[in-house]
Amino acid sequence: MNITIVGTGYVGLVTGTTLAELGNSVYCVDVDASKIAKMKNGIVPIYEPGLEEMFLRNIQADRLHFTTELSEAIDKSEVIYLALPTPPGEDGSADLSYVLGVAEQIGSLMTNYKVIVNKSTVPVGTADKVREVLLSKTNSPFDVVSNPEFLREGFAVEDAMNPARVVVGSTSERAKEIMSKIYQPFTNTGIPIIFMDEKSSELTKYAANSFLAVKITFMNEIANYCEKVGADVDHVRLGMGSDDRIGHRFLFPGIGYGGSCFPKDVKALIKSGKNENYDFKILEATEKVNQKQKVILAEEIDDYFDGQLQDLKIAVWGLAFKASTDDIREASSLDNIRIFLERGAKVIAYDTVAEENVRKILGDQIEYAKDMYTALEGADCLLIATEWPEFKNPNFKLMAEKLKNKVIFDGRNMFPLELAEQNGFYYKSIGRKT
Ligand code: UGA
Repeated sequence: MNITIVGTGYVGLVTGTTLAELGNSVYCVDVDASKIAKMKNGIVPIYEPGLEEMFLRNIQADRLHFTTELSEAIDKSEVIYLALPTPPGEDGSADLSYVLGVAEQIGSLMTNYKVIVNKSTVPVGTADKVREVLLSKTNSPFDVVSNPEFLREGFAVEDAMNPARVVVGSTSERAKEIMSKIYQPFTNTGIPIIFMDEKSSELTKYAANSFLAVKITFMNEIANYCEKVGADVDHVRLGMGSDDRIGHRFLFPGIGYGGSCFPKDVKALIKSGKNENYDFKILEATEKVNQKQKVILAEEIDDYFDGQLQDLKIAVWGLAFKASTDDIREASSLDNIRIFLERGAKVIAYDTVAEENVRKILGDQIEYAKDMYTALEGADCLLIATEWPEFKNPNFKLMAEKLKNKVIFDGRNMFPLELAEQNGFYYKSIGRKT
């Protein structure tokens, strides 16, 4: 099938590449000419394990094409996916101007039946808005479908090729048949495709992300309480997760959730609720708890040094909002670093891949170390903010040599307590004994 993807951001590019991998001819459209030129030359603009290989393979197979010309791509395709940014506005609601702007252009350009697929995370009712815009611009037949994306950064290719489910919101039999054909390689292997109306599909995405944010936050509160009563959250987590109504995933406590999705989607659902005079109290509480959780260790470090952070040197391992990505959006590391800087401490940081992105924001307000051990030289303590695999089994002897004080604050519960203890460290993690 010929498919157009408008928007070659994270979701668009991964979706486009995987749809090409499934045998479709895919036209990726973006207004950013330099990005399109790079991709034509085989350069992948984002870091995502496994993507480059698949991307190059499909360019070579002539299934993946790039253009800045929407008209050219639309002519060739019956199905047009919208994978455009929906940034949060001042009040937290999703800004639909990119989605509706492109819908308007499609409406002006299309001359025969098209299926317009909303892949971006959009508020309930967006399919109707896209439909209205198209109707105002064209007499050609079309259907608007909601098909939310459930990719995790760092596992996007894996998730896109082996999704837990495909959700398709459409009440048109013609569109449903076309979407079934696109996802047939999945349904053939037993992956369910769940059909529903557009609004339910749009809400499914917000509900899923918000639920996961609540799940993590609940566990963070249990972890904080474990510390009060002398319980160990790792045991509690295993005990709870073994009930398959609860499950083991997303029960890992830490220094709060970040990234480009959970914070934005929780905010947007709260805002959509308010528009209907509905207060999502559980989500409001989740946001509040998460904000506090993100900096819980900065405050504990401050306490440890009796409120005297000025002129201390704090080493930070990990800047990305989670491992396997260079994304630093809403990363807890940044909130902690800002507190350290405000209180007069110096920061020296190391991240496996995210340094470049942090430089764009913090510049030389902090120092950057070339590797994890160099970051520790002469530092008063270490904060671990991202669970990169290289931090999992460190050389404690070398750490002790480099650090001024043998003090670790670990926001990701990386080491068994005994290990840090045996090596003579003061080791504070989340929800476990110190
Ligand atoms: C999330 C969802 O997991 C995807 O299903 C969804 O498609 C995506 O948002 C999106 O809307 O595009 P992502 O933001 O890539 O994916 O990252 P997650 O792996 O879900 O992690 C989110 C945050 O929660 C991270 O800060 C992570 O460190 C934190 N987390 C996750 C925990 O603190 N504990 C856990 O047990 C799991």
